[in-house]
Amino acid sequence: MDKPIGIFDSGLGGLTVLKEVRNVLPFENIVYFGDTKRVPYGSKSKEDIIKYTFEAIDFLISKNVKVIVIACNTATAISLDLAQKKYDIPIIGVIKSGSKSVVSKTKNKVVGVIGTTATINSNSYVENIKELDKSIKVFQKACPLFVPIVEEGFSKTDVAKETAKIYLKDLINKDIDTLVLGCTHYPLLKDSIKYVVGEKINLVDPAKETSITLRDVLIKKNILNKKSKNGICEYFVSDNPEKFSLIAKDLLGIEDIKVFG
Ligand code: DGL
Repeated sequence: MDKPIGIFDSGLGGLTVLKEVRNVLPFENIVYFGDTKRVPYGSKSKEDIIKYTFEAIDFLISKNVKVIVIACNTATAISLDLAQKKYDIPIIGVIKSGSKSVVSKTKNKVVGVIGTTATINSNSYVENIKELDKSIKVFQKACPLFVPIVEEGFSKTDVAKETAKIYLKDLINKDIDTLVLGCTHYPLLKDSIKYVVGEKINLVDPAKETSITLRDVLIKKNILNKKSKNGICEYFVSDNPEKFSLIAKDLLGIEDIKVFG
């Protein structure tokens, strides 16, 4: 079926998920929506996050998508269950897949989760990880400054490293062997995070496992695009398409990107 996959994020961070989806499912068409006008979601109320998520889903449905990926951890944590109840279309989030991935990787069963304030306060990662393996100890830390650091293009600077040092100090002292990057922006800070946590701690990006979950859903529902021609991506944002376009080109390594504002 050549109807597109819909991917939604609060802004540009979901491009890290789109990138993985394109690796795993290169022949699929994609419609991406980034709510750049209202980012960040991580510090908003539950009511607002739910409202914005439903609006984004309605928009993607109006674009005739066959499945929706909520790439945003915050929107997944707060709104996924409600969205799955409200809509008939298949909707997947990133937290179940991220949790599956961390459970399969930890050896000492002590793991860390970092995310936005809303994601961490929701306890969603802890619940999903514990559902898979009760014996795993989970330590969490909200890192609200990471998102603006990425948005301002400071990912590879000393500002990022110093901020990571402050945020991650306690987690490192807890002897974690695996750390979930529970926010779409954090994979873009991988180098600075790695610099602080060292080589011994595994970093888990939920995007990889989410793409595999998505492929399984498409196969199960028999809605894979059977054409063996590279899929087309269309990008929609609620504000500032120029900035989004620049970052998207850089992140995806593609010159020809059409962003609709
Ligand atoms: N996309 C959000 C997430 O993954 C991060 C940015 C925000 O706070 O909206 O949690």
